[in-house]
Amino acid sequence: MPKPRIHLGFDFSYTHMGGRWRMPGSWPGRTFPDVAMFEEMARIAERGCLDLLFSGDGTGVPDTWRGSRDAAIEWGVSWPRQDLNPLTVAMSRVTKHIGFGLTYSSTFMHPYYTARLMNSLDHITNGRIAMNLVTSTRKSDAANFGFNELMEHNTRYERMEEFTDVCRALWDSTEPDAMRWDRETGRVTDPGKVHNVKHVGRFFKVEGPLNTPPSPQGRPVLIQAGGSPRGIRASAYVADLVFGPDTTLAQQVKHRHALDSALTDLGRASKGVGILWQTPIVVAETEREAKTQRDRLLTAIPPEAVGAYLSYNSGYDFSTLPERFSLQEIQQQIIAANASPIGFVHELQMQLGETAEVTRDTFFEHGLRAATSYDKTVAGSAAQMADHLEEAFEATGSRGGFMLGHTVSMPKDLIAIVDLLVPELQRRGRFRTAYSGRTLRDNLADT
Ligand SMILES: Cc1cc2nc3c(=O)[nH]c(=O)nc-3n(C[C@H](O)[C@H](O)[C@H](O)COP(=O)(O)O)c2cc1C
Repeated sequence: MPKPRIHLGFDFSYTHMGGRWRMPGSWPGRTFPDVAMFEEMARIAERGCLDLLFSGDGTGVPDTWRGSRDAAIEWGVSWPRQDLNPLTVAMSRVTKHIGFGLTYSSTFMHPYYTARLMNSLDHITNGRIAMNLVTSTRKSDAANFGFNELMEHNTRYERMEEFTDVCRALWDSTEPDAMRWDRETGRVTDPGKVHNVKHVGRFFKVEGPLNTPPSPQGRPVLIQAGGSPRGIRASAYVADLVFGPDTTLAQQVKHRHALDSALTDLGRASKGVGILWQTPIVVAETEREAKTQRDRLLTAIPPEAVGAYLSYNSGYDFSTLPERFSLQEIQQQIIAANASPIGFVHELQMQLGETAEVTRDTFFEHGLRAATSYDKTVAGSAAQMADHLEEAFEATGSRGGFMLGHTVSMPKDLIAIVDLLVPELQRRGRFRTAYSGRTLRDNLADT
């Protein structure tokens, strides 16, 4: 029996962040958002038959460190970022098969605008669009959309589910065979095949229909990355494909089980919903070369920028830390501030002990490794990386695959994935040698 196939995405969210843009092997003489970089990336990824290129997004400028945005701007902490949709159009015009995943927030966007945008992109790309829906976790994003505070965590997920209901109704509002474009009669559409939506809910009131023709995929592929119990329930409601965290294999197995049981509760077959696990990776001809390349991450962020990165990642201002402190004390303050309880400090507690005392310097030394994803980046030869991926794929139910990313230098590390890792997975019968589907949804279903 053939082995189940692995699906691969590539997450380019951090290509120009975290000092990666200045690492050897990165485009010389080109800076974000030069569209030529994105076009080249798309061509390379398609040469490797990857399922999709993906980017996360956020719409605020981080101001957690010292309560100011200065450090984020100075050191490029989640800054600058552009709207992904024009870049997607550019990348789609130089490729034919690869899909594109764009991130939008259901907490801030309106479903009518978003449904119309995704439909339009699906037309332009000929059926290669996926939308990653996020709830957004930062006050600096909320502040740009008229909110003083971020909406409560579970309420954000209630809104996401209603947002999805509205989008689905809009995407279905014109039947697939409604368009006529009949030159003789002049008839454009069969009116009996266009339906109102008439949605009235807690968050949205939308009459419909969507004023666009049905797109090649009908609905874009929906991605979701919730990690909390409520977030995983929302994944089961919303997602065709889930984006999972780069945590331990044991945690990933647990996540898979939690998603399966949430899908079963909703009467959905869990077999069809894959998880792409976020996987920071460096591949090279030899293990030694890969590890040397990974070590460059430790030089990517200047020491004075580490605090700003960590504060952004944790949603907590570390600029006021005393010379020496207990991790538990800080963790309690983080929880009280409603920031992320499962972030860097929690990870450090697991490493050093829950009540360990550390100095400010030690804290930031560890922080540098966390801020660059150094400890989570798997590095090795193609055979080693293929072993690693196969093991994780099988342990998590042989559905979905991996969202490779957080590489050190672009395009160097993407080229290595395409020229070294992909052929190794193909030799093992784990990865396609050519695209077989017409749309992204077809390619993702190819097992
Ligand atoms: C791999 C991955 C990528 C994510 N990308 C984004 C993103 O681009 N923008 C964003 O606001 N949140 C992003 N998130 C956050 C998730 O949407 C979600 O809020 C997070 O996993 C915490 O789960 P919870 O919301 O259920 O508490 C990402 C999460 C993961 C695991």
